[in-house]
Amino acid sequence: MKTHPEDFILILDFGSQYTQLIARRIRELGVYCEIKPFNIAIEEILTYRPQGIILSGGPSSVYDSDAPLPDPKILELNIPLLGICYGLQLLAHFLGGKVESAARREYGLAQLKIDQNEDLLKNVSQLTQVWMSHGDALHALPAGFQVLAETANSKFAAVANRERKLYGVQFHPEVAHTVEGKTILRNFAFEICGCKGTWTPESFVAATVAEIKEKVGKAHAICALSGGVDSAVAAALVQRAIGGQLTCVFVDTGLLRKGEAQSVKDTFDNYFQGNLVVVDAARLFLKRLSGVTHPEEKRKIIGNTFIEVFEKEAEKISGVEYLVQGTLYPDVIESVSTQGPSATIKTHHNVGGLPERMNLKLIEPLRELFKDEVRRVGQQLGIPDKILRRHPFPGPGLAVRILGEVTEERLNLLREVDWIFIEELRRRGWYDQVWQAFAVLLPVKTVGVMGDQRTYENVVGLRAVTSLDGMTADWARLPYDLLGAISNRIINEVRGVNRVVYDVSSKPPSTIEWE
Ligand code: XMP
Repeated sequence: MKTHPEDFILILDFGSQYTQLIARRIRELGVYCEIKPFNIAIEEILTYRPQGIILSGGPSSVYDSDAPLPDPKILELNIPLLGICYGLQLLAHFLGGKVESAARREYGLAQLKIDQNEDLLKNVSQLTQVWMSHGDALHALPAGFQVLAETANSKFAAVANRERKLYGVQFHPEVAHTVEGKTILRNFAFEICGCKGTWTPESFVAATVAEIKEKVGKAHAICALSGGVDSAVAAALVQRAIGGQLTCVFVDTGLLRKGEAQSVKDTFDNYFQGNLVVVDAARLFLKRLSGVTHPEEKRKIIGNTFIEVFEKEAEKISGVEYLVQGTLYPDVIESVSTQGPSATIKTHHNVGGLPERMNLKLIEPLRELFKDEVRRVGQQLGIPDKILRRHPFPGPGLAVRILGEVTEERLNLLREVDWIFIEELRRRGWYDQVWQAFAVLLPVKTVGVMGDQRTYENVVGLRAVTSLDGMTADWARLPYDLLGAISNRIINEVRGVNRVVYDVSSKPPSTIEWE
């Protein structure tokens, strides 16, 4: 799907952990961009008609035998180019400069001293803090290049060949520690590439709606609503394009949080005006999960049962040709990336395999967006804030937050605990500050004392994390007194719990969910 308007910056990925951040920063400027593998063909590059190309950083040295190298013709396209870190070293390597292994890896903050305050570094302070992270460094400039800025350890911290529109920086303008990084990226996009910053939620909605209309024609589409942000926004976009030709199906798996099924029904019934089918499959899911304790087995059972229920509903609608999915850009990048970090760790995506089985074509209108952009598009489409601000929730639901067997009783217990946790986070203004927060029920009991009685009851774990996209995460530093208050409420109000623990692990090496 090509929804990009006139602005387009192409980012070639050489394996830096910051590549996605570059894309986010460029998008924040209202400039559309996409990340592609470093070795895509020149012909493909030209089909995007990019106004600029950014070469990302990466862990390699240009002298490695397996160093990722782009087609050198990329330098002859007369398209402005910005090399970041490894990207700069590539420029130098191709054009006859000298790259050498630095005596010492440079990692951390540095002061950038500006020599030339024009184009790339326009409006940047004379001395400004930047973030360095590199082993190799430039030791001699290629012909035609000049120095724009330097640091104590890098004589060539920012360089340019203005005539050929080739620019390079040794530091990382995309990370927050580079205080004026955004100005530098803006200068590249606007001053050097001539972008206009026209990419907005409004322009995205208009372009996407027109495209879906044309693609679907008179056919029918279905969408599985989960109650989360992504499927809601995807469905809303498609509905705006084809109206009553879209049917949304909400499967109540019985694995949702307290009050969630009802709230989803109420909200979406209103929004999708009669095109919503609600299936109560709670008993079926619980029956299939009976006696199952292994995480992957749970996920598979839930995935298969979901497909079965969904398929049955879809068969009742005639002329269905399309399946709408709320796939986001990080999922797309993750699945094409060579390392594919989490793909094999857990079986994600409860509707995986559905399109092939049902012989449906896919509509994935959010394939190019990041989560925060999805929220902005959702706002534009009038989706209620309570849906848009909702934390991500896994397809297999509470089943992967109940370690051990999933029973009605354990589900109810976890629902009450989770409810209190979330209610307190909301009340104290923390809900919107974390990426995700939830409770897990452990398969162990511990001894406690309540009144004069010895108790032997359940332990619950609380997890709250900060994250940009769920791919990496850190545990949220919730205040002790807040944690204390939550723990008190849970132990006092939820029968069957006598101990509360807080999860202080980051991802990696842990994952966000416990199963
Ligand atoms: P992990 O546990 O892999 O989770 O660190 C990363 C993010 O993905 C969510 N998650 C899922 N989402 N289906 C989903 O749609 C799933 O099976 C699933 N498992 C985990 C998780 O909540 C977190 O936001």
